[in-house]
Amino acid sequence: MDLKNSTILVTGGTSGIGLELVRQLTEIGAQVIVTGRNSTALNETKRRFPSVHTFQSDISKPDNIRQLYNDVTAMFPELNILINNAGEMRLIDMQETSMQLEDLTREIDINLSGTIRTTHQFLPHLIKKQSAAIVNVSSAIAFMAYSTAPVYSASKAGVHAFTMALRLQLKDTGVKVLELIPPGVKTNLQNNWVLQPNPGQMMDVDKLVKIAIRGIQNDNSEIKPTLVRLIKFVSRIMPGTLMNYGHREFEKFRQLTRNPES
Ligand SMILES: NC(=O)c1ccc[n+]([C@@H]2O[C@H](COP(=O)([O-])OP(=O)(O)OC[C@H]3O[C@@H](n4cnc5c(N)ncnc54)[C@H](OP(=O)(O)O)[C@@H]3O)[C@@H](O)[C@H]2O)c1
Repeated sequence: MDLKNSTILVTGGTSGIGLELVRQLTEIGAQVIVTGRNSTALNETKRRFPSVHTFQSDISKPDNIRQLYNDVTAMFPELNILINNAGEMRLIDMQETSMQLEDLTREIDINLSGTIRTTHQFLPHLIKKQSAAIVNVSSAIAFMAYSTAPVYSASKAGVHAFTMALRLQLKDTGVKVLELIPPGVKTNLQNNWVLQPNPGQMMDVDKLVKIAIRGIQNDNSEIKPTLVRLIKFVSRIMPGTLMNYGHREFEKFRQLTRNPES
């Protein structure tokens, strides 16, 4: 994809991977449009990157997606790339009884349903373009369920499956379907966790986004840093090994949430 001459919608572009995409894409010269829920974060993004246009929009709400589509395509008919990046990740103990059913599937509503609905809403517009792309952000966790974040794991496995199916459906169109598959990355995603990830195992966000941009420019259907290649390979030849390794964290998490003093 020629990014310099593209108009790109980045959902969840006010923090972490999305914000770094905004930084690097504007540097290349692309026209970037950003969404998010928090108006202060949107204003701050606009202040840092004045050429960017921001829209307050919650991807888990179908009405917000319809409104976003109407506003963005009216203002930017040249829009040709959608990056479904907005996401959330919580650590959840399924035996914790205080969680409400309505709230339990938030990651599905945002990460998975948000991606599917936004894709469906923008597809008729993108398909008319000579060159267009949809980039879905999944996770290495799509290949090795992380027991401490079961709903997130389900949402990202879903994004991976959806992206593969969509790619086949669109193979005879001008819309490329790409999947960015990050490993652990240092962002605000983990801010409220009681169990903090090991910083030594987390990738710097600028490095990840450099790889992402190169991957989009080269139309790589799966954009994955070396660590993710390794995770995908090990998950195939030794199913369960990485999941069991990650599961060691769950007991620590359970102890911290059941006995906050310990
Ligand atoms: N960081 C990692 O280790 C990692 C690893 C693999 C995959 N990923 C994926 O990468 C993507 C970006 O994550 P990140 O690490 O950059 O997280 P982040 O720093 O927490 O940023 C998340 C962004 O998504 C937005 N967002 C969250 N819920 C939203 C909603 N309902 N509607 C619209 N925007 C929403 C946030 O803004 P508001 O809160 O203002 O809405 C924010 O701009 C996610 O899909 C995540 O699952 C991250």
